[in-house]
Amino acid sequence: MSQDTGTLPPTFDRADGHAVFPQTDHDETARMNFLTGLNVHIGRTLSPGVRTTYEQRVKPAYEKANGAAPSSATDIRKAMLLDPNYQQWAALRRNTQETSQQASREIALRRVDTLSAEADALNDGRNTLSLDDNLTIPSYQAAVDNHLMPGSYYTEAVDGDVTAAATYEISLFPIGGASFGAKGDGGGRAMANFVRDRFPDLNPKRIVDMGGGIGGNTLPLAAAFPDAEIIVVDTAAPMLRYGHARAQSMGYGNVSFVQGLAETVDLEPGSIDLIVSVMFWHETSTKTVSEALAHMHSLLAPGGVMLHLEQPNFDAATPTFERFMRDWDAYYNNEPFWPKLHTLDMFQAMEDAGFDKENLFDAGTEADIEPGRFQPWSTIVTRHRHETKDLGDTGRKLSTLGGYKGERWWLFGATR
Ligand SMILES: C[S@@+](CC[C@H](N)C(=O)[O-])C[C@H]1O[C@@H](n2cnc3c(N)ncnc32)[C@H](O)[C@@H]1O
Repeated sequence: MSQDTGTLPPTFDRADGHAVFPQTDHDETARMNFLTGLNVHIGRTLSPGVRTTYEQRVKPAYEKANGAAPSSATDIRKAMLLDPNYQQWAALRRNTQETSQQASREIALRRVDTLSAEADALNDGRNTLSLDDNLTIPSYQAAVDNHLMPGSYYTEAVDGDVTAAATYEISLFPIGGASFGAKGDGGGRAMANFVRDRFPDLNPKRIVDMGGGIGGNTLPLAAAFPDAEIIVVDTAAPMLRYGHARAQSMGYGNVSFVQGLAETVDLEPGSIDLIVSVMFWHETSTKTVSEALAHMHSLLAPGGVMLHLEQPNFDAATPTFERFMRDWDAYYNNEPFWPKLHTLDMFQAMEDAGFDKENLFDAGTEADIEPGRFQPWSTIVTRHRHETKDLGDTGRKLSTLGGYKGERWWLFGATR
C-alpha cells in the first residue's frame, strides 16, 4: 500500500468534456478534486486499517468471548459495528460518497435549463432516440437512490430533463477516484479489448448494451466496430436523452438509444451478434436476472456472444472478511441487491436461461485507461484495492470457467 500513497489523482479538469458535459467553475472543480482525493485516501490509506482493526482487536475479542472466530460476514459485521475505528471509517466513507453525489447533483441542477437545451439541440430530428412515456420504472429501481445518487437515474425536475444523467457522469470521477479514465469508459474499453482478444473472428453487425445508461461504456464498442449498429437499452429517459446527445456530439451516428427493459425490450429474436452490460446486474433483482438472461438468450444470433462486466462475485474461496467488506455498499451505499447477487450462481443462471454449459466463460479485468491520458495513475489506483489480490501490470488476465479469481472486475458470459 505504501509505495504509491504520495501520488495524487488526476484533477477533474482532466476529465474529457463534450457538448452536454457541464463546464464547472473554479469552486466546483476544487470541490471535485478534494472529493476525488478523499475517496482515494479512504480507499488506499484508511481501508487497509479496517482489516488491521479486525485482525488485531475485534477478532481476538470475539474469539475470547465466543470461543471461536466469526464464521460469517454477518458475525464480523455485528462485531465490527461496535468498534470505534470501524465506525469512523464507515461514517467517513458514507459521508464522502454522499457529499460526492450531492456536489455532482448541485453542479447539474444549477444548469438544468441549459443542459436540457443543449441536449435538445443535438437530439432534435434524429431517429436514433426512442423514448417510451408508458414505461414503468421497475419497483427495485424506484425503491432507492442507487449509490446515494439524489433522484436516481430516472427522475425529472423539468420536461426533457437530463440532470440525472449529468449527475451520474460527473460523480463517476470522484467516487471512482479518477480511475475510470478521462471519458469514464475504462470498463467499456476493457470489454472491447476482451472481445477482440477472445473472439477475433466476431464481426458483429448488431450490438446491444443492456442497462447502458449514458452509453459511456458503449462507445468503445462503437469505435471498435464502426460498421455495426449499436443499441443502448435503459429504463431511464434522462440517461438516454443525455447519452444520445453525448454520442451525437462525439460523432457516433451508429448508436441508438432505446427506452425499455432488458428483460422485455422489443428487438427481433436471434438478431443480435453481441449483447453486453456494464455494472448492470448489481442494480437489478433476482427476477430481472433470470428474465433478462432468458431474453438475451432469445435475442442472440447463432455464433453470437453475450458478455457482462460486473464486480467479482463470491465463490467458495472468497474469504469471509472480503465478503463483509464488499457488502458495505448494501448497508451504507444504497445497493440493496449487491449481497444477494453475490450469492447467485450466475453460471447456473445462464444455463437456466438456455445457454449451453460448454459455452459459458469468465475472466478478470480492470479499467483500460487511454494510454497517455491518466497513466501511471490508472495502474496503481483502485478504490477497492484492499479487496483485490495483486493485480500485476498486465491488466487483462484471463481465467478459466470457475468464477472469482481476485481481479478487480469480473467478465462473464456465453456464446451461442
Ligand atoms: C450502474 S448503471 C450502469 C450504466 C452503464 N452501463 C455504465 O456503465 O455507465 C445501471 C443502469 O441500469 C439501468 N437499469 C436498471 N434496471 C434496468 C432494466 N431492467 N432494464 C434496463 N435498464 C435497467 C439503470 O437505469 C442504470 O442506467
